[in-house]
Parts: sequence; C-alpha cells; structure tokens
Amino acid sequence: MKKRRMFFGVAAAAVLGIGLGMGMVFAGPPAGAPENEIIIEGKKPARFNHATHSALGLECGVCHHDGEHSPLAAESIAALADPAELRCVSCHNDAHPNTEMQKPKDVFHARCQTCHKEGYQGKTGPTKCTDCHIRQSKTLEGC
Ligand code: HEC
Ligand code: HEC
Ligand code: HEC
Ligand code: HEC
Repeated sequence: MKKRRMFFGVAAAAVLGIGLGMGMVFAGPPAGAPENEIIIEGKKPARFNHATHSALGLECGVCHHDGEHSPLAAESIAALADPAELRCVSCHNDAHPNTEMQKPKDVFHARCQTCHKEGYQGKTGPTKCTDCHIRQSKTLEGC
C-alpha cells in the first residue's frame, strides 16, 4: 500500500514536472484566455488567436488594460466579474476621452498592426488585410 502511494506520488510529480516543462516550450492559452480562435466583432470582423500570441511569451497586459490604462495581469482578468469588460469597444467608443482612441480601426490597428510590422522577439506578424479580416459571406454582404 505504502509502495503504491509512493509510486503515485512520483508519477504525479513527474506529470507535474513534464507539465511545467512543456508550459515553457509550448505556452498554450493560459487559464482564462479563450482557447480557440475568436472573431473580433465590428464592421470588418477579424480573427485573433490567444494561443499563437501566448506562445510568443506575451503577457495579457500587452493588450488588456483597465480604465486607467494600467496593464491587466492574468490574475486580475480571472477575478473580473464579467469578462465582457475586456472588450476593447466597451471603452474605445464615442465616449472615450481621447478622440484618437475612439474608432475600432485606430485602436486595433495601433495595437495589432504596429507589432506585426515591428515584430516581437525577431518574429513579425501578418500585415495583409485578409490575414486578419475574414471574408464576410456573400449572402451577408449582398443584403
Ligand atoms: C493585424 C490584424 C489586422 C490587419 C493586418 C488589418 N486589420 Fe483592419 N482591423 C483589425 C481589427 C482587429 C479591427 C477591429 C474589428 C472591427 O472593428 O470590425 C479592424 C478594423 C478595421 C476597420 C474598421 C471597421 C469600422 O468599424 O469602421 C477597417 C475599415 C479596417 N480594419 C480595414 C483594414 C484594411 C483596409 C486593412 C489592410 C490594408 C486592414 N484593416 C488590415 C485588424 C487588422
Ligand atoms: C496580443 C493581444 C492579446 C493578448 C496578449 C491577450 N489577449 Fe485576451 N483578447 C484580446 C482581444 C483583441 C480580445 C477580443 C476583445 C474584443 O472582443 O473586443 C481578447 C479577448 C479576451 C477574453 C474574452 C473577453 C470576452 O469577450 O468575453 C478573455 C477572457 C481574454 N481575452 C483573456 C486573456 C488573458 C487571460 C490573457 C493573458 C493570459 C490574454 N487575454 C492575452 C487580445 C489579447
Ligand atoms: C476599461 C477601459 C478600456 C478597455 C476595456 C480597453 N482600453 Fe485601451 N485604453 C483605455 C484608456 C483609458 C487608454 C488611455 C488613452 C489615453 O492615453 O488618452 C487606452 C489606450 C489604448 C491605446 C493607446 C495607448 C497604447 O497602449 O498604445 C491602445 C492602442 C488601446 N488602448 C488598445 C486597446 C485594446 C486593443 C483593447 C482590448 C484588448 C483595449 N484597449 C481595451 C481604456 C480601455
Ligand atoms: C506584441 C506583438 C503582437 C501583437 C500586439 C499582436 N500580434 Fe498578432 N502576431 C504577432 C506575431 C509575432 C505573429 C506571428 C506568430 C508566428 O509566426 O508564430 C502574429 C500572428 C498573428 C496572426 C496569424 C496567426 C494566427 O494566430 O492565426 C493573426 C491573425 C494575428 N496575429 C492577429 C492579431 C490581432 C487581430 C491582434 C490585435 C488584437 C494582434 N495579432 C496583436 C505579434 C503580435
């Protein structure tokens, strides 16, 4: 019995060790971030994948901030009563005090495109319109 328990202890430690090790190599989406690709809604919907960006080692606060523009850490995001507060347009709209930060295009292109052009840790991101913007179906466009 004792031996068995010890075996499980060692196995659990090994799994944990592998888990931690892998976390560093393939940093998938950490708890709290949507696992699958999301579509950022708007007039020109765009794709965004947390896993791709977390794998670059980006902290949540590179993109997510509070009403004082202080970066939000994963713990603060996990503690939010309603994750919808993270939606960029909930603050970046006509009521935003900085008129240059009201339009989705200005806000998202500033954040997304700037880094894709300049690159992060030697890796650049896609910059063609259709790399981010999804084609809206003809039925939607037509009517
Ligand atoms: C790195 C990703 C990315 C690339 C590349 C990109 N965009 Fe965007 N763009 C976004 C995101 C995210 C939004 C916010 C979604 C929305 O508001 O519909 C946005 C919003 C917009 C909007 C605003 C829609 C509105 O509310 O008026 C326009 C117009 C636009 N993009 C045009 C373009 C064009 C044209 C190109 C190519 C020259 C381009 N985008 C390239 C990510 C990108
Ligand atoms: C490179 C930019 C970027 C990084 C880094 C990032 N996010 Fe996001 N996240 C976004 C964008 C953009 C959205 C969509 C916001 C919108 O719809 O306006 C989003 C949406 C979310 C949502 C869904 C909010 C909703 O609509 O319900 C959660 C939860 C979230 N992020 C958590 C995290 C966590 C936790 C981290 C860090 C581990 C993180 N994000 C890192 C850009 C990022
Ligand atoms: C809770 C409100 C709030 C939310 C949600 C929010 N922002 Fe902001 N954002 C601000 C404020 C306040 C500023 C500061 C504006 C200024 O300096 O005048 C700002 C500034 C910015 C700036 C310009 C300064 C910089 O950091 O480069 C960008 C770009 C930006 N936000 C993008 C985003 C994106 C992308 C999201 C969604 C992932 C987002 N914001 C969500 C309130 C918010
Ligand atoms: C700080 C840098 C940085 C920011 C901010 C950033 N990206 Fe990226 N993104 C990258 C890099 C680097 C890659 C290429 C990753 C690779 O090749 O492994 C990438 C890849 C992508 C891709 C193609 C791969 C995939 O995930 O499907 C899309 C689409 C994308 N980003 C959209 C966005 C949007 C939309 C935003 C803003 C909400 C954004 N990115 C913000 C650095 C960034």
